[in-house]
Amino acid sequence: MTDSYAVIGNPVEHSLSPEIHAEFARVTGQDISYGRILAPRDGFRDSVLRFRDEAGGKGLNVTLPFKHEAWRLAGTRSGFALAAGAVNTLVFQGDAIIGHNTDGIGLVRDLTRNLRVPLRGKRILLMGAGGASYGVVEPLLREQPESLVVANRTLEKAIALVGHFEKLQSYAAQGIAARPYGALAGVQFDIVINATSAGLENAMPPLPDGAFAPGALAYDMVYAKRTPFLKFAQERGARASDGLGMLVEQAAESFFIWRGVYPETRSAMALLRRRMKQ
Ligand code: ATR
Repeated sequence: MTDSYAVIGNPVEHSLSPEIHAEFARVTGQDISYGRILAPRDGFRDSVLRFRDEAGGKGLNVTLPFKHEAWRLAGTRSGFALAAGAVNTLVFQGDAIIGHNTDGIGLVRDLTRNLRVPLRGKRILLMGAGGASYGVVEPLLREQPESLVVANRTLEKAIALVGHFEKLQSYAAQGIAARPYGALAGVQFDIVINATSAGLENAMPPLPDGAFAPGALAYDMVYAKRTPFLKFAQERGARASDGLGMLVEQAAESFFIWRGVYPETRSAMALLRRRMKQ
């Protein structure tokens, strides 16, 4: 029997997850269906339970604005989901709802495998202190960078984020620090990650000119367009990447959690690149 999965969000019609998972199912020969569920803003839980109990759903991907609510709904939170405070993958096992967060793994895989940028010993700047940043901090720290600086327009939020992750025992010794953008003048980074939503409004964080070390990578989690940040980085000699690879890699990790099979991601990536050019 075909197993059913879906992405749940509001809005959700823009989501590329159905195309990605259809491609994964094709390349792995897995018999699944994958749809989209538009949940009312105040009806996330009901929509999840209806999908599980009435439609026989096996699992869900969760997108904005429900990632924190999914974290609360999950009876068990596994791996990186625990500290991230956000869940993007739900698994239904009998009555149990298990929550995972694959966003950070997706980012790290895109950086290290697809873009071939190892993170160990690197100076990383993470811009933004919202949900997108919380989802990736722990997987980034696990790679043992030399330092992870979190910059945010509202400094208090960066301080709160750093305080939250400093409490995690295993990473306590690592150099994670909160800074306002103004304090970054004269400091260089090997990898600059834009986890702000600025690009969606054609804006960019106030990053000083000299932030990119020679050979630096600029990475924007936004994938639907070339953002002002990526343009700024390229003009200053940095290598630039959008977040399409992260999207595909986080989906691959979800697929693995559900199916026990790790899909090859290159064909899905190529498919989406072609689609975005249309
Ligand atoms: P998400 O869950 O996607 O991270 P969010 O919680 O609304 O969304 O956070 C958006 C992040 O982008 C915040 O860090 C925000 O900075 P503030 O905390 O100061 O609001 C950041 N952001 C959005 N627009 C920005 C801009 N034009 N310049 C700099 N930072 C911006």
